[in-house]
Amino acid sequence: MNYIGSKLSLLEFLEESIDKVVDKNCNIFCDLFAGTGIVGSYFKKKGYKIIANDIQYYSYILNRHYIGNHRELIFAKLTMEIPDLENIEIKNRGAFVCDYLAKLEGVDGFIYKNYCFGGTRDNKESRQYFSDENGRRCDAIRQKIENWKERKLIVDDEYYFLIASLIESIDKYANTASVYGAFLKKLKKTAQNNLILKPAELIINHQDHQVFNGDINEVVEKIDGDILYLDPPYNHRQYATNYHILETIAKYDNPKIYGKTGLRDYSKQKSRYCSRTQVKKTFRDLVLKARTKYIFLSYNNEGLMTLDDIKETMSLRGKYGFFTREYNRFKADKTNNRNYKANKTIEYLHYVVCKNI
Ligand SMILES: C[S@@+](CC[C@H](N)C(=O)[O-])C[C@H]1O[C@@H](n2cnc3c(N)ncnc32)[C@H](O)[C@@H]1O
Repeated sequence: MNYIGSKLSLLEFLEESIDKVVDKNCNIFCDLFAGTGIVGSYFKKKGYKIIANDIQYYSYILNRHYIGNHRELIFAKLTMEIPDLENIEIKNRGAFVCDYLAKLEGVDGFIYKNYCFGGTRDNKESRQYFSDENGRRCDAIRQKIENWKERKLIVDDEYYFLIASLIESIDKYANTASVYGAFLKKLKKTAQNNLILKPAELIINHQDHQVFNGDINEVVEKIDGDILYLDPPYNHRQYATNYHILETIAKYDNPKIYGKTGLRDYSKQKSRYCSRTQVKKTFRDLVLKARTKYIFLSYNNEGLMTLDDIKETMSLRGKYGFFTREYNRFKADKTNNRNYKANKTIEYLHYVVCKNI
């Protein structure tokens, strides 16, 4: 997923840097601003037990699948609804169910009625976040998954796998420059293609992984681990507004929405890490509460906290250091000719070896 602040292209840098600092007895990796779950997934594949968290529910779903799921999904009860499943090898069943869902007839549900042109053209605010076809398919798939869950035809692991697959797939057909803060006037090419429901990868690693959906400053008090990896927002851009439609697809809770873009209420998900006046204090609180041997922080040279702020705060826990890497700036709209100060930023990985846990 093209996600603001995604660490997909920095995974090796993170691993190499972390390996230079930590001792050999580290087994628990905590990724508590987990976003897409790409960092936790990478370290899960390396054999770590992962503890993941994010304040957004769509992110919880992604992590609940990528991190939390670690056994083959057998869809045993769903054979009552889809008898052909019995003849499918277990490792291919997830893909088979996704295929079944993708072929459902579309319905006029919440996404179509509020975020597609066909469903909103007579409203005060018309919107075009998805093609009518894809909006209706998204509704049909999401409703069917919920219906299966209510009828106990799928277990939790299967439920989260299916919604994670839907969130990642539908995002590829969004008619946006990349985030959901605005939609494009005309349907762009990729938004015109018909939704294919791609099964999300299942990562097998039989450790007792944990996944939370809360504010990091609260969650950090509930966990113990070896390595705490922190990847907070770097600036004022709230994830709750930039990904509000993914949140609604994940929750599918018919929220009250408002304004041009159809925002949902996000007062409980406003991140203090996006506030210039609150970030330093909140970060300090987090660093002081952490019960891990090492703390790592990804941040760049243009973030709300300065290098000195970070050094001062992390040094409170022990020996501080950092690694750097040049990085291409995240562009919301690759075709837009905005006059950026520079196309490169410097990505830092700060760390502290904690003296007392
Ligand atoms: C830079 S992104 C993380 C990207 C992630 N490492 C990846 O590669 O996909 C920051 C994440 O922090 C989450 N977040 C912001 N404030 C939070 C808070 N107070 N508690 C927990 N998560 C928070 C956002 O929802 C967002 O997903």
